[in-house]
Amino acid sequence: MQMLPSAVLEDPRYRVPAAPPAGAGLAWLRSQAPRSCDGPEHLRRRATVEQVLSSAVVPNSLADPTVALLEAFGLPAGRLDDVALVAAAYQPDAPQSPGADAALERLVAAYGGRSEGTAARLCLLVQVHAAMRALIGQRRTGAAGPPVPVTRRVAPDGTTVEVDLADASFGRGPHACPGRALAEAWAEVLR
Ligand code: HEM
Repeated sequence: MQMLPSAVLEDPRYRVPAAPPAGAGLAWLRSQAPRSCDGPEHLRRRATVEQVLSSAVVPNSLADPTVALLEAFGLPAGRLDDVALVAAAYQPDAPQSPGADAALERLVAAYGGRSEGTAARLCLLVQVHAAMRALIGQRRTGAAGPPVPVTRRVAPDGTTVEVDLADASFGRGPHACPGRALAEAWAEVLR
């Protein structure tokens, strides 16, 4: 796959890979996430995610970041395993499993059913889990570079390309990470 520089993240001709509409499971979560749409719909979903994040009191403590966010969003630490199952299957090219879909449905039920607010909380939990674990793993091994090294976009000719995040650890442009301040605060205390 072609690798392009991070500047394309600010080029509106490059779109995020879209997720088709779906009624249940991981496919439903992807279809609702800000990560998988552009334009006015993205702005709307992104505003919901930012509102959910800013209205929760997330501790900058040594607690596991996923557990800290779970508790800030009103669920117990015991839901960590379900978040981990969902996060492992969140990217559409990751291995999918009925176990991950079942975990997603348990989390949806715990939040009282499918809604925009449920989707916003779940997509934040999944992003935190994947990115913070990548960061913690990197710290452990001493590996350099961005914790999430690449992302993907669909080029104007319809091909999917990879985008190098070496100079943009938290992305750039409209999809840049809304959790950056929190991630940096956690990175300090986890040091
Ligand atoms: C070291 C930790 C983190 C790293 C390296 C990281 C990195 C990134 C990157 C590179 C993107 C852009 C993806 C793209 O443009 O395709 C992104 C998006 C996102 N991140 Fe983070 N992130 C981290 C932590 C967090 C945290 C703590 C949260 C929430 C509390 C979060 C929530 C999100 C969300 C919801 C998006 C999607 C935004 C959108 O599509 O509009 N991330 N992150």
